[in-house]
Amino acid sequence: MHPIPVRKMAFEIPAAEDFDPKWLVNNIVLSYAVTGISLYVAYLEPFLVKSLRRVLDQVTDETLRENVDRFCRQEAQHYMQHERFNEAILQRGYPGLRERFDRLKADFDGYLATRGDKWCVGFVEGFEAYTTQSALKSLNSGVFDHPRTDRQFGQLFKWHMTEEIEHRNVAFDIYQHLYGDYPFRAKMCWIAQTHIWRFILDCMKIMSPVDTARFDDSYRVTAVHRALAVCAVAPMFVKTYSPWYDPHHYAVPETIAQISTELTAAAESVS
Ligand SMILES: [Fe+2]
Ligand SMILES: [Fe+2]
Repeated sequence: MHPIPVRKMAFEIPAAEDFDPKWLVNNIVLSYAVTGISLYVAYLEPFLVKSLRRVLDQVTDETLRENVDRFCRQEAQHYMQHERFNEAILQRGYPGLRERFDRLKADFDGYLATRGDKWCVGFVEGFEAYTTQSALKSLNSGVFDHPRTDRQFGQLFKWHMTEEIEHRNVAFDIYQHLYGDYPFRAKMCWIAQTHIWRFILDCMKIMSPVDTARFDDSYRVTAVHRALAVCAVAPMFVKTYSPWYDPHHYAVPETIAQISTELTAAAESVS
């Protein structure tokens, strides 16, 4: 089995009326943050795929070419699954959320139309450098299997985060292979990471007042909560700005390798 297997999964999709916005370990800040990620990747991941596919011909290393192809195929599966889950979130009815979501699409369409290959590949690497760390952190914590986590969303993210770890080196490797420009990479890490977090914070601002009115005060997310959330992820950003940052240095725990094996066994098909 290739270390970056492309799995097609058959997930049960939640209905809009079953979507509880406090779905992740019953923690509203974490839940909104990860819901924001689910929405974000629906437009980010097509951008990742298009950005790397358009430079694939410049890659002269055969192994890297195959890894990039597998990266793109894994990411394509991710956004297709998230699109199905996102409908349940959007149908719940949050005034302004679809408009913010549309603006996100316009951002990525604009990047592909106006930015060069190096900028786009740098953005891909900046994003992946962050997701690898949050994937390791979240899988190690066991939040997706927690009894107070929605099973359907939990399984979606467990699969997605595992595959992020499987393909953790690919964006870094293609960036180094084609450009290897450290200051530019660090700049793109900042641009990509602040882009996703601006979106996540906007989702919290849009969703929390609606849910607080709809349910109760436990859905309230204040400016202090949002600031604390940013403080919690900031060390992961900072780590990627180092000239010595290299995802090849990560040790993947045996428990995550075991999850990979279980997902392969549960997949509808694997290639
Ligand atoms: Fe992904
Ligand atoms: Fe990824």
